[in-house]
Amino acid sequence: MTTQFSVDELQLELFRYPPKQEANLQAWDAADEYLVKQLIEREEAPLPCAIINDSFGSLTASLTKLDAQRKLFVETDAKTSQLGTSQNLERNGLSSDHIQWFHSRELLPVATQQVLMKLPKNLNYFADQLIRLSQVLPEGTPVYIGAKAKSINKALLSLIAQNLGPASASLAWKKSRMITCISDGIKRPIAQASSWKVPEYALTLSNLSNVFAATKLDIGARFMLDNLPQGEFDTIVDLGCGNGVLGLRAKQCYPKAHIHFVDDSEMAIASAKANWQLNQLDEAHLDAPQASFHWDDCLTHLGENVQPDLILCNPPFHQGEAITDHIAWQMFLDSFRQLKLGGILHVVGNRHLAYHVKLKRIFKNCTTIAANGKFVILQAQKLPK
Ligand SMILES: C[S@@+](CC[C@H](N)C(=O)[O-])C[C@H]1O[C@@H](n2cnc3c(N)ncnc32)[C@H](O)[C@@H]1O
Repeated sequence: MTTQFSVDELQLELFRYPPKQEANLQAWDAADEYLVKQLIEREEAPLPCAIINDSFGSLTASLTKLDAQRKLFVETDAKTSQLGTSQNLERNGLSSDHIQWFHSRELLPVATQQVLMKLPKNLNYFADQLIRLSQVLPEGTPVYIGAKAKSINKALLSLIAQNLGPASASLAWKKSRMITCISDGIKRPIAQASSWKVPEYALTLSNLSNVFAATKLDIGARFMLDNLPQGEFDTIVDLGCGNGVLGLRAKQCYPKAHIHFVDDSEMAIASAKANWQLNQLDEAHLDAPQASFHWDDCLTHLGENVQPDLILCNPPFHQGEAITDHIAWQMFLDSFRQLKLGGILHVVGNRHLAYHVKLKRIFKNCTTIAANGKFVILQAQKLPK
């Protein structure tokens, strides 16, 4: 993996988060370099700057290295991106004192005088981000958006114009381009979460714009719902919860249980919380809180006192644009550490992902609970050594 980031005189050592990943993946792309290069060439004095969708901190660390006193407002939906950015600042001896962190539902401060942004994969989410920017940016504020050249077309430029202000794209450089949008100062109405019903499980689900399975139940999740384990459970984790559908159904099936919802996406956690309330899942006769919500990278900060007897997991197989199995690995390793003795990890996955190999290595056991043409449900139990 290349870790040496260099633009003109600027040199940084940057790692993905978590740092141990496939050797061919790196922590930035050419569009990051292009944005930094353009900023160095254009900017006369360092302006307070918002940075949005910075995967692992290449933009944040670059701007910090150029001027440690510049005010930075860093917005991300992904906990791993925030953790990766902090790690890369520290690794390069850079302070984070001048940085204010924002999650993806917050409004950035009106003090923002320019914005550096990476184009996210999900264009509904992108539109939502532009609309939030339209609430705070005065007319004339420049917003620079870096992306792969192949992702930039007329439709994208008109989406930007519709939601924030007129936009034009630069020529290509290393197969990436930079869009310059000038905010027109008009506030657009903030979009509502999309909502739909799953009648067979008497659930209503609502999703914010960056949440997995935006408008209908994922087919893997449906297979999982059809094959939940029998029995009673006290403490359940919905690991990588998205809109929370697995944990919500678990509460219907095991009403005494406390459910922990965990996701890397802040919007996922907000959606799971909204769905918990929407579906009125608290058992009236139980006094203590019956659900907890954690914006986290896998089970990193769940704490030793939470010892689940069941973990439900429909793991992701990509991080941003990169196809990778390291998150599934980490989810399985964290589950093994966190489960109480005898507790079980119940996983759904595409057959070709061969999760049974990983589970057998970690748990020394793995049972196939159900299978169809596309998916398999696997269960591994934490046994005494
Ligand atoms: C395949 S989706 C499953 C969503 C939901 N459980 C379902 O079955 O519909 C995987 C989820 O894992 C989340 N995720 C990705 N990386 C993660 C990480 N490092 N820690 C926690 N969650 C993560 C994603 O945001 C996404 O919501």
